[in-house]
Amino acid sequence: MGSTIAAIILAAGQGKRMRSRLPKVLHPIAGRPLLVQVIRLALARRCAPIVVVVAPNDEAVRSAVRAAFPDAPLRFAVQPRRLGTADATRAGLAAIPGHRGRVLVLYGDVPLLRPASLARLERAAGRASLALLTAEVDAPFGYGRILRQHGHVTGVVEEKDATPAQRALREINVGVYLCDAALLRRAVGRVRRNNRQREAYLTDVVGLAARGGGAVAVAADPTEVVGVNSRAELARAEAILQRRLAAVHQARGVTLRDPGSTFLSLDARLGRDVVLGPGVQLEGAVRIAAGARIDGPTVLKDCTIGAGAVVHSFCHLEGAAIAAGASVGPFARLRPGAHLEHGARVGNFVEMKKARLGRGAKANHLTYLGDAEVGAGANVGAGTITCNYDGGPIKHPTRIGAGAFIGSNTTLVAPIVVGERAYVAAGSTLNQTVPAEALALGRARQVNKLGYAARLRRRLTAREKR
Ligand code: UD1
Ligand code: CA
Repeated sequence: MGSTIAAIILAAGQGKRMRSRLPKVLHPIAGRPLLVQVIRLALARRCAPIVVVVAPNDEAVRSAVRAAFPDAPLRFAVQPRRLGTADATRAGLAAIPGHRGRVLVLYGDVPLLRPASLARLERAAGRASLALLTAEVDAPFGYGRILRQHGHVTGVVEEKDATPAQRALREINVGVYLCDAALLRRAVGRVRRNNRQREAYLTDVVGLAARGGGAVAVAADPTEVVGVNSRAELARAEAILQRRLAAVHQARGVTLRDPGSTFLSLDARLGRDVVLGPGVQLEGAVRIAAGARIDGPTVLKDCTIGAGAVVHSFCHLEGAAIAAGASVGPFARLRPGAHLEHGARVGNFVEMKKARLGRGAKANHLTYLGDAEVGAGANVGAGTITCNYDGGPIKHPTRIGAGAFIGSNTTLVAPIVVGERAYVAAGSTLNQTVPAEALALGRARQVNKLGYAARLRRRLTAREKR
């Protein structure tokens, strides 16, 4: 369709200033790689096709993109050598040879733009052959500056090529361009590498377009335009995004007791009257239903928390599902596959992995439950350990029936079944089935030697006197 806008996203840069093994565009903010944020932006504007320009052998970038967008209309284009943003754009254009109409060029390291700003750019572009986003910022260092004559944009000059007077300009180039495809093809071919960095600057296209038919500048909010080139800028972008996410959740009825120390994920969904305490850190896809409370400091990664559930301070939950009205911690660690049903309770120093606590079941102190099923209403006493690992390749299961009572300091050597409503005596080590309603004792019988302690003491004092 001639009317759809194609997108070219530049992500082949080296990101030298990050001093990282990870490609710059894969560094995350609020849990998502920078590049993923930019691609989502192009998808939100319904751009098609979307071309991501990558460096040769940049398998890490490709696979991260494929994993994030298995079904999106994405293509990759390879920029053989890093010769600059105009050269990268040329590589992107080569991947959409048949495209007529307009092309949106985005940089993979400018992650905070809102779709609404792009919508404004599209509207303002009108019939101009090129429109670009600009912003007035307090700290323009490092960005390209917008040059104007009589108010009209005449070009962009890069920091390194700018005169002192140009460096004083505070209107910067955001790095977002909407351009007629035919003009862009012609213009990137004409850009020369005659500048301080010996790179083909895409920004030179702005000057060419301005001389041709005019370039339209659209002002964007300074909080949307941060480009990430260094760790310091990464932190700045993260801080801005965190503030934005906090405001979104507050507006929807979430209490953040200390927004400054709360770390939100772009993939978090929080219900009304959720309360997050100081130092709560959400990572990945976290769902928290209405009225649940998470005290901080606590980390929740890829978890679901049911309505009215409580997670107390100092917990670490990953891949766990907590049903409504359940309670966790303080000081609990729930690993992938931990599942608490309605009203179940896990207390301090309890670890769970691939383990389910049935409705109202409890494991309140110092316990490890791995590969275990605990029935409704069962009580797992302090210091209970499921021994699921014998050094071999598979982990063995433990089943504890509904209403069972496991005495403190019990060792359950899996595979093992404890029947419904059975009792296990404290201090037992069990490796055989306990039938329902039975009492299992798996420990040495107690022996009392009367008067033994007194005799022992007498002997010791006699020895001292000698
Ligand atoms: C660029 C702009 C600058 C603007 C700033 C906004 C140019 C010449 N300058 O500067 O005007 O103010 O962004 O953040 O465009 N890339 C490639 N191949 C290359 C070089 C870069 O794909 O050969 C990609 C990078 O991965 C990056 C993007 O293009 O995502 C921008 O490159 P970068 O080197 O970060 O440009 P800046 O110096 O930030
Ligand atoms: Ca940059």
